[in-house]
Amino acid sequence: MGDSTEERAPQQRLDADVDLSKPSAARMYDWYLGGTRNWAVDREFGERAAATWPHVKLVAQHNRAFLRRVVGAALDAGIRQFLDLGTGVPTVGNIHDIVRRRRRKIRARVVYVDYEPVAAQQGRQVLDEDEVTHWATLVQRDLRDPEAIFDDPETRRLINTGQPICVLFIAVMHFIGDGDDPRGILDAYREVAAPGSWLALTHACNDAAPEPGAGNIQAVVDSYRNTSNPMWLRDYDTIVSWLDVPGWDLLKPGIVHPPDWRPVPGTGLTDEQEEARPYMWAGVAGKA
Ligand SMILES: C[S@@+](CC[C@H](N)C(=O)[O-])C[C@H]1O[C@@H](n2cnc3c(N)ncnc32)[C@H](O)[C@@H]1O
Repeated sequence: MGDSTEERAPQQRLDADVDLSKPSAARMYDWYLGGTRNWAVDREFGERAAATWPHVKLVAQHNRAFLRRVVGAALDAGIRQFLDLGTGVPTVGNIHDIVRRRRRKIRARVVYVDYEPVAAQQGRQVLDEDEVTHWATLVQRDLRDPEAIFDDPETRRLINTGQPICVLFIAVMHFIGDGDDPRGILDAYREVAAPGSWLALTHACNDAAPEPGAGNIQAVVDSYRNTSNPMWLRDYDTIVSWLDVPGWDLLKPGIVHPPDWRPVPGTGLTDEQEEARPYMWAGVAGKA
């Protein structure tokens, strides 16, 4: 079991409500990315997942790289507000880092949202340490309750819903089951967003993946059923039906695998990165 007090790094102050009896998606994902904000229970699960589906860490890296390119593109397009649903445990290259690098020229605001206590506590700590709390915050809430998120005083402090927002659902909607009406959840955020807003999404998939990878990711997804975050794969047509909706235009190049969304010119993929390409769909839509 992962609840070993000795393994906690000094910066990892935890409240009593952190459940260390089950692995969590936030902390496992941190482990996939090489982070340190995870516990034995998360690492054991992560190691089993990586043994079953060896591409998992590279897929997580493709996903983070997509996030960074979308944020850069949104800043280039003039968007100055970011609402990131399912932020995860903070790691290098988060949205406020990207904004910070351009901060001399750009003033933007960032609201992170995650319901996982470790992600929330660590996120707040990072924002404090980075001295960015006047323009970046973390709201500990469930993304299935958009009203509560938009009504939260912290969101209201930083987000003006009369101005365009980049709303990000990066590697999170695969934790929302069909019973929670994922398309309806996206619609609720779309409704609040002002014209000119963007909605960005990545989602785990295996409908374009060859065997044995397609079966391997399915086996990992099946194993998530016993974690705090059960997980679902969805196919291309489903993602199209979620993103290509009236009043919103799919931005070029449409719905693709993360490395294919506006790759940085002159960069290529190694053979291993290439093999890890077809395990997520990614897309961005803009409100007309
Ligand atoms: C795989 S991590 C993705 C982190 C980050 N978005 C990225 O792509 O790098 C998924 C995160 O979503 C969070 N999450 C899952 N379901 C959620 C929900 N209903 N509300 C808020 N956060 C949620 C988990 O706690 C986890 O931190």
